[in-house]
Amino acid sequence: MAIKTVAVIGAGTMGNGIAHVFAQNGFKVNLVDVYQPQLDKALTVISKNLDRMVAKSSITEENKLTTLQNITTLTSMAAGVRDADLVVEAAIENEEIKLEIFTQLDEVAPQHCILASNTSSISVTKIAAATKRPEQVIGMHFMNPVPVMKLVEVIRGYKTSNEVTNQVIDLSKKLGKVPCVVNDYPGFIANRILMPMINEAIYSLYEGVAGVEEIDTVMKLGMSHPMGPLQLADFIGLDICYSILRVLQNGFRTSKYAPCPLLANMVAANHLGIKTGEGFYKYTAGSKELVVSNRFRPLSPEGGT
Ligand SMILES: NC(=O)c1ccc[n+]([C@@H]2O[C@H](COP(=O)([O-])OP(=O)(O)OC[C@H]3O[C@@H](n4cnc5c(N)ncnc54)[C@H](O)[C@@H]3O)[C@@H](O)[C@H]2O)c1
Repeated sequence: MAIKTVAVIGAGTMGNGIAHVFAQNGFKVNLVDVYQPQLDKALTVISKNLDRMVAKSSITEENKLTTLQNITTLTSMAAGVRDADLVVEAAIENEEIKLEIFTQLDEVAPQHCILASNTSSISVTKIAAATKRPEQVIGMHFMNPVPVMKLVEVIRGYKTSNEVTNQVIDLSKKLGKVPCVVNDYPGFIANRILMPMINEAIYSLYEGVAGVEEIDTVMKLGMSHPMGPLQLADFIGLDICYSILRVLQNGFRTSKYAPCPLLANMVAANHLGIKTGEGFYKYTAGSKELVVSNRFRPLSPEGGT
């Protein structure tokens, strides 16, 4: 069964990138979100990202227009998935919400449709068990920013069929990505290794071992990481990092992965990184300068840690 129409559920950071990449590669995309403003914002972001690609001559103006024409936005999931061959769910990282979405998807998506989740850490096997087609449920874990990052971590749930796995491998290659197949255990591979590093960086800050800039500089210049772990955490979203660490902690039943109390505080204070304008750094629209949040400047009147 050829995959031609793709429904993307959730139009946030990842959903808009996933919609962009499929649309640019000739797929018809139905982008679904519960909030119309998120859909409007997603189209603006996609359009701006395409402009940047046109400016760099990596695509033509015509490619840009075709890509945008390939995307339809909807607030109704049933309407969005009715004619889909593949669904990629990219709603928030919350198990209850994902299970609810997959139960509904199973009812409204065509029988042949593959149901994929972009989850960073939630069990694909558990998500699949919410449907009557677990062999057609798979993890398709794109990286942020989706149009730039080459990897797709393909996660095989306990019952995912070989046929569906092979289809998703081929599809990822058609998108110009490199698929990497892993089994379904907490955090898969990417986040099982990345999140303890980010958590350790936050602990180092919390315990006063070093400041934000120093921690990130050590990892950038010492380990050749393109971004320091604290900047990366802001980029991913601190709420997402927190949720993934909880999944690792609960899944492996060890305190080794327990989120640092500073991370928990920042999430409770809604300092989630780039998406809320402040995390370890402060973000100003239009500026690319990396400015440490006042909260982590010891001499600031707002205080240090
Ligand atoms: N942010 C990252 O760097 C990153 C990387 C890889 C994977 N992921 C995963 O991708 C998924 C999405 O993350 P994000 O960073 O894009 O989150 P986000 O908060 O930016 O966007 C989530 C979107 O889902 C929408 N939504 C919530 N409930 C919905 C529902 N029932 N139906 C349709 N839409 C709904 C919200 O309105 C929002 O627009 C998560 O599972 C996350 O773990 C994130």
